[in-house]
Amino acid sequence: MKPHVDLKTRSAAIAPFRRWQLNLFVFPALCIAALLTAAACPAQSLRQAASQIGLLVGTAVNPRLFSNPDYAGTLAREFNMVEPENVMKWAATEPAEDRFSFGPGDEVVAFAEAHDMKVRGHNLLWGVYNPAWLKQGHFTPKQLRRIMKHHIQTEVSHYRSKVFAWDVVNEAIDAKGGMKHSIWYDQPGIGLSGKGTAYVARAFRWAHAADPKALLFYNDYDAEGINAKSDAIYAMVKDFKRRGVPIDGVGLQMHLFKLHQLPSGVAANIERLAKLGLRVHITEMDVALPINAEGEADAASLAEQANIYHQMAAICARHPACAAFQTWGFTDKYSWIPGSTKGKEGAGLIFNAAYQRKPAYTAVLDAFTAEAKADPAIKEQRLAAR
Ligand code: XIL
Repeated sequence: MKPHVDLKTRSAAIAPFRRWQLNLFVFPALCIAALLTAAACPAQSLRQAASQIGLLVGTAVNPRLFSNPDYAGTLAREFNMVEPENVMKWAATEPAEDRFSFGPGDEVVAFAEAHDMKVRGHNLLWGVYNPAWLKQGHFTPKQLRRIMKHHIQTEVSHYRSKVFAWDVVNEAIDAKGGMKHSIWYDQPGIGLSGKGTAYVARAFRWAHAADPKALLFYNDYDAEGINAKSDAIYAMVKDFKRRGVPIDGVGLQMHLFKLHQLPSGVAANIERLAKLGLRVHITEMDVALPINAEGEADAASLAEQANIYHQMAAICARHPACAAFQTWGFTDKYSWIPGSTKGKEGAGLIFNAAYQRKPAYTAVLDAFTAEAKADPAIKEQRLAAR
């Protein structure tokens, strides 16, 4: 179905396409000239810059917005990976017991296939965002175990060979490094309560059985640098590797809410995970800023935000085990931050609400481009590690 857009909006939406198409002609000429002089081709988009260093650059998406030309155009031009923000979560995929709904997730897959992008799946198991029937079902541990297995098997099988990487378990560990209370762990749990990470391992084994080729990730927040939580995650995944639990990587969400409190030791954390033979994906980056009533941030905080994006993108670009850099949405028009901070914070992404590139966009592009120049071998190393 064609979206209805009036003529004014339509020409405004087409204008960036025209510029972009023009670039398609100008770019090869520049690029051929650059090749003749042995210089690197200047990247025209994030996805081009990322592919020069073998990196996936992604964003969370909402398939309901694919009919918006600004949204779809920016997405296809700038990213080579997408992850559904909500539509592959439990509440969306199994809204009633054993009644699965994969339509919106399938739209994400179709968009990705049409634009040569990879799909990250998010997520199979989480303590929140679960449907009422599951939360209030008063199931026994034995019943819950069967429900969990069936859900993981059904969803992973449905997306076999379409979703290349899954967040199998989301946010299972607390700030002190202990297991979080949840229906899966101990309320009532699947029969493994008090047994630490055993239920997490179960989820990974079931996911692997359903698609042995998919890359399987544990994903969490506030565990980007070195702290009690990331130490616990490190200990868990080290134990999984030792015992042959099928895990391929760790997702560092990177939701940054405090401008002046950056996570410390991010490179060191990536390095220790890499030494275990794991990959790292930056999965949900945004940098929340104080906003005014119009939802706008001031120039100084936008500059500081750009600086933070640059640092984190550079750390990822530099490490061959950091295979993907993803933001939690791309336009400030659609971001979870205002909704989760009562409108106090927002403007956390790399495009503004009018789809214009923010300083943060240029900062990420520069970080990728600089890495391509600094270490031309990084691409092969990353592809080999991935
Ligand atoms: C958020 C979505 O952005 C919101 O739209 C939804 O209402 C709640 O979930 N960590 C995660 C994501 O792993 O799934 C969350 O996404 C943000 C925090």
